[in-house]
Amino acid sequence: MPSVYIETYGCQMNVSDSELMYGKLQAEGYVTQETPHGADVVLINTCAIRENAEQRVIGRLGELRRDLKPGAILGVTGCMAQRLGARLLATDTRVQLVVGPDAYRMLPALIEGARNGERFSATDFDLEEHYEDFTARRFEGVKAWIPVQRGCDYRCTYCIVPTTRGPERSRKLADVVRETREVVAQGINEVVLLGQTVNSYNDGTHDFADLLRAVGAVDGLRRLRYTSPHPNDFSDRVIAAMAGTPAVCEHVHLPMQSGSTSMLKRMLRRYSREDYLDCVARLRAAIPGLGITTDIIVGFPGETDEEFEETLSLCREVRFDDAFTFKFSAREGTPATRMPPEWTIASEVVDRRYESLMATVRGISREKNMGRLGERMEVLVEKEARKGELLQARSRDFKTVLVPGTPELIGTYLTVELTGTTGATFTGTPVQERQPLPMAG
Ligand code: SAH
Ligand code: SF4
Ligand code: F3S
Repeated sequence: MPSVYIETYGCQMNVSDSELMYGKLQAEGYVTQETPHGADVVLINTCAIRENAEQRVIGRLGELRRDLKPGAILGVTGCMAQRLGARLLATDTRVQLVVGPDAYRMLPALIEGARNGERFSATDFDLEEHYEDFTARRFEGVKAWIPVQRGCDYRCTYCIVPTTRGPERSRKLADVVRETREVVAQGINEVVLLGQTVNSYNDGTHDFADLLRAVGAVDGLRRLRYTSPHPNDFSDRVIAAMAGTPAVCEHVHLPMQSGSTSMLKRMLRRYSREDYLDCVARLRAAIPGLGITTDIIVGFPGETDEEFEETLSLCREVRFDDAFTFKFSAREGTPATRMPPEWTIASEVVDRRYESLMATVRGISREKNMGRLGERMEVLVEKEARKGELLQARSRDFKTVLVPGTPELIGTYLTVELTGTTGATFTGTPVQERQPLPMAG
């Protein structure tokens, strides 16, 4: 039987797409393998979000061409494939297939063609495509990624995703519920719903509030998460559904990008600093103990010292549990590249702001985490930690907790007491759940 290896870069959506591609190819008679060595088909599922994401892929393609067995078929899929299309075939003669996110249905046929020496790029969008008839081949045994929406209809001026993923479309609620039931039946009880602006989900009949309630009602599902919501799509209905569905975890990843209203306007984020703060306040009022994480970009064109200070002050005001920080990267064709050249921020300034933002974000999360030592909480053991003899577990509010134990505990829930923190992650000790006291007399 022919073998296939897929290497995945980028966000959870790509991880999920790789699972779908593996599933499809397995159904077509391929065996999957976990290294490129000796594979008949090698696919690189790529990300285009920042320049360095693409540089990594280009470097990797160079390495791989030396490792491939003679006659192996090399293909590029995902966002960079969509963005560059046939240009990739022209620049890298070893690449035979370039397949964008809506064209994975064509993979078996394209691979067949490649065997006959053809080189092909397939990058049409398909607004109906959700790969409903594919069965994902999941590698992660503890939680399942379930896409509920593809594409994006926002047009944030820095972002390549609308170009690489096409217009927004939602899966039918019944299909998402069916897939949730299937993964629960396989013994997985944490599900993460995926979409670029997942809370704008709408299948024509149901909104994201309906979806949360319906998925949350699946018997045996213990934890429900979703990523990434857009602040503008947090209707009161959605927040009420989140608060009123016990399986939904007390965590939200709420990308802020900037704390300055003028900057948010240039980014076309469609909310102000005040709107963002209001969204956070409504979420916190509805969901006690809510963990909040975010994404922030520094060095966007025209960012003034004052605007950057507003980003720092918003971090201090919200007190994020964690933040992913990015240096702005100009992406070909995005509106940000058409801004006046004098708006470009010098790289020394970007570096300085980036360091200062990291220090602020880390300081806040350290302070918050120190304050939680001694707390008891339920964690789900996800995998072996990189450091020996420890397991990596996660709380409902998305804290990473390292606990002692053997791999049999992976996939189980433990009650732990937080005993230490690096500032970012915790160490914990399993404790007995408190038993009810014996009745007197
Ligand atoms: N759909 C999600 C974001 C997906 S991209 C949302 O709207 O929140 C993940 C993160 O990458 C973004 O939140 C943003 O912080 C960052 N990002 C996107 N484009 C970027 C660019 N051109 N340069 C730097 N960071 C970028
Ligand atoms: Fe990109 Fe904005 Fe869409 Fe997120 S909402 S994927 S940042 S365009
Ligand atoms: Fe990257 Fe595409 Fe995801 S650009 S972040 S893999 S949607």
